Amino acid sequence: MTQGPIGIFDSGYGGLTVMREITRQLPQYDYLYLGDNARAPYGPRSFETVYAYTLEAVEWFFGQGCPLVILACNTASAKALRSIQQQNLDPYPGRRVLGVIRPTSEIIGQFTRTGHVGVLGTTGTVQSNSYPIEISHFFPDVQVHQQACPMWVPLIENNEHLSAGADYFVADSIQQLRQQHTSIDTILLGCTHYPLLVDKIRQFLPANVQLISQGGIVAQSLADYLQRHPEIEQYCTKGGRRAFVTTDDPVSFSEKASVFYGERVEARYHSWPHG
Ligand code: DGL
Repeated sequence: MTQGPIGIFDSGYGGLTVMREITRQLPQYDYLYLGDNARAPYGPRSFETVYAYTLEAVEWFFGQGCPLVILACNTASAKALRSIQQQNLDPYPGRRVLGVIRPTSEIIGQFTRTGHVGVLGTTGTVQSNSYPIEISHFFPDVQVHQQACPMWVPLIENNEHLSAGADYFVADSIQQLRQQHTSIDTILLGCTHYPLLVDKIRQFLPANVQLISQGGIVAQSLADYLQRHPEIEQYCTKGGRRAFVTTDDPVSFSEKASVFYGERVEARYHSWPHG
């Protein structure tokens, strides 16, 4: 096996909110980001499609020499991670793929006092039931209430999320979640795009409800993982380099990415062999 950067994958821009925290906590490693913008959003797509797209991305990362790939996308983690780990890694001995749902589920129960946690996510993430299932392993007494927010990713990807028009969709999804149980005191942003909406979401929540974003949690979990797995860590190159690749227009990616990543990036283009 050769050395290479840590791969970070999302359907589009959302994974940059995770990469931002990962590069802040672990600046010494090299990173390669891939946003499959040409095929985003993944949220409304079928299991088979998300699995096929995510597997194609993972194999691309391996071809670029990445020893470790983080699916910084809840939808891909929910619909593709387990299948890839169980069925597709044999030809790639020593390489690993991790997601964002498990590290988040491992600690989310520590935030709630009432035992009622709300999860906001894409339709795909919610329908998969991944969060209720994973959280029940770590916190069997915590009740999980989920709400799909199908309009949020399109609003964010189209830079309309701060508009007055977005208020309606944000307020509506929050209301639908809170109606499920009056004691929800912790709400997880279970989609890596949603941190861009934090200020707007807050406007529709009482002060005693906590909002949890995943970036810092996933970064901390990756730091622990690399410490526990020197056999993987030794293949991660260290030089602080970051590269960004998109399957759509790299100029527009570079322009929009800074909102998610916090600094300007230069992206290059990759096209899938079958268009
Ligand atoms: N950012 C991704 C997630 O965390 C998905 C957005 C999408 O493509 O629908 O779920």
